[in-house]
Amino acid sequence: MKTKIIAHRGASRYAPENTMPAFQLANEMKANGIETDVQLTKDNIPVLIHDENVRRTTNGTGFVQDYTLQELEQLDAGAWFSETYANTPIVTLKKLLEWISPQSLQLNLEFKNNIIDYKHLENIVYEMVKEYGLLERTVFSSFNDRSIKRMQRIDPNAQTAFLTSNKMRGLTSFVQSIGASGVHVKYRVLTPQLVEECQAKNIDLRVYTVNRPAHMVRCYKLGCTAIFTDVPDIARKQRESIPA
Ligand code: G3P
Ligand code: MG
Repeated sequence: MKTKIIAHRGASRYAPENTMPAFQLANEMKANGIETDVQLTKDNIPVLIHDENVRRTTNGTGFVQDYTLQELEQLDAGAWFSETYANTPIVTLKKLLEWISPQSLQLNLEFKNNIIDYKHLENIVYEMVKEYGLLERTVFSSFNDRSIKRMQRIDPNAQTAFLTSNKMRGLTSFVQSIGASGVHVKYRVLTPQLVEECQAKNIDLRVYTVNRPAHMVRCYKLGCTAIFTDVPDIARKQRESIPA
């Protein structure tokens, strides 16, 4: 199986991360899937934003959880990136699901709940994905292992993945123990041994954030399940250059 290319926060090198232009561009660049980060507003609406604080990627200040959706939608999530994208709004999960439904893209929803452990985040997101009939092509991931366990309780068949940026002894056993079907690791964690272990235990191994061509080629040759990249166009070009 060819290593899949997942656009990290959309095609985030070319458009503001986690916005519709970044997702649309990823689709145009023929990524296999999209990764995005999910948090909850004050009124419990899932929205797509990486940081707990809106400061870095919008013209606002303060925490996502302290904004209602209506307040959050007034913010500009594009101008920080470039003038071209001024007035680009923050995206709700519902809007993404509506858009992605007719596309053939895979989806990775990363619960951003390792700093603020939002109550009911998993339930709210799961129900929405189910309503849109997208469970089969969605992977739910988190750095928070309690969140993975909660997902398992909601639906033991849901595809889940544990995220880590650290080299952990016994990583694959840990992944199995929490019932995750995959592991998403930072590039520096990747070793041929980890690939072998994951293959032997039937664990999907996806690697982030792979933006250098040489690193992409290494992931492809090792047989990783997928890479997350900000540059899906370059990732495709590199993948095509590898003999089948
Ligand atoms: O889900 C892969 C990757 O997005 C995890 O790190 O900080 O970019 O959300 P981060
Ligand atoms: Mg992420």
